Amino acid sequence: MSKSYAVAEEGRYKLLKQILPKSVVRILLSVRAYAQLVINYVYDFSRYHRASCMGEAAGNVEQYDALITMNYHRLEKGLSLREPKPFFGKQVVEYLLRTIEHHQREYGSRESTITALNTISFYIQWHEKQDLHSDYISNLKTDLANIISRLNNPSPHIAKGGVNARVFRDHANDEEINFFFNERHSVRHYSAEPVSTDIINRAVYLATFTPSVCNRQSWRVKAFTERSKIDHALKFQNGNRGFGHTATVLFVVSAKLTTFVSPSERNQGWIDGGMFAMSLINALHALGIGSCPLNWSTDAKRDKSFRQAFGIPDDEVIIMFIAGGHYEENYSVCDSARISVDNLLTIN
Ligand SMILES: Cc1cc2nc3c(=O)[nH]c(=O)nc-3n(C[C@H](O)[C@H](O)[C@H](O)COP(=O)(O)O)c2cc1C
Repeated sequence: MSKSYAVAEEGRYKLLKQILPKSVVRILLSVRAYAQLVINYVYDFSRYHRASCMGEAAGNVEQYDALITMNYHRLEKGLSLREPKPFFGKQVVEYLLRTIEHHQREYGSRESTITALNTISFYIQWHEKQDLHSDYISNLKTDLANIISRLNNPSPHIAKGGVNARVFRDHANDEEINFFFNERHSVRHYSAEPVSTDIINRAVYLATFTPSVCNRQSWRVKAFTERSKIDHALKFQNGNRGFGHTATVLFVVSAKLTTFVSPSERNQGWIDGGMFAMSLINALHALGIGSCPLNWSTDAKRDKSFRQAFGIPDDEVIIMFIAGGHYEENYSVCDSARISVDNLLTIN
């Protein structure tokens, strides 16, 4: 299974060339590639169709969480503007109150609902601070108090929601910036020292600060530290030959499609999941752990077998693997040349 796709293709190509004219082989190969492309798109399409919540017809708790999150975040965005517009987002507030009630009844208190209630409360306070009193705000206050009084299991520890005031300050000096960006490289050999659960938790925590579409945070991550599990998982991946066996931690980054709400978000899981993966790599770097991203550019067949072997939920798409471990005292990295800025940047 670890045999690379390109090498396997080359072998088949040689065999066909021996029995058929080159031009026919080329046509056959492109027809086959086209068919595979369609099959793999249909595979991805079906999963997105099954898992995501298109429109407002949420059907499960995670879809409701997503809709509530994206809507309370609309209020947060409005409140974070230099000059928030008085009474903005009335329809959003109305939608949230209605949906939170339903959500509470069906699923009890959730982080999403508590944060949404905190945000609405913040929205009311903001209007009061500006002396913007109206029937709308006083009715909203009553509605909010009623909902909160009906909460059977409030989680007061969740104090998030709304906006925070910040004062700008310079964050890093040149040396720190260089360390962070220039010294991170893909590392392909690791020491035998295990990576502690504390480090794994901290790295994942730091990566949760990754931005995501409407703060829906579709990312999920599974970390393996047992040798047998890492080795088993890496058998499904085609780019770890020669070093995978030295990894002492393996992350499988995925994205939960239940957090997406429309056909136009069909690729968002890969974007948000990819950004999270980069943050996780940077967090590991900051914590002194070397890592190497590992592609999951695979076909439906292999994706299915991996999911089956590792119990990956059907509503998640796998973004990539990340192998990691402590540094050895001396190690090499590829001198991965970068395209010059002149060749990739257009400033208009
Ligand atoms: C999505 C993704 C998949 C990758 N897959 C592999 C892989 O399967 N095997 C590997 O050795 N490196 C893999 N890499 C690492 C790249 O080769 C590496 O990031 C690139 O050459 C730049 O080098 P640097 O990370 O040292 O800066 C992958 C990188 C990314 C972003």
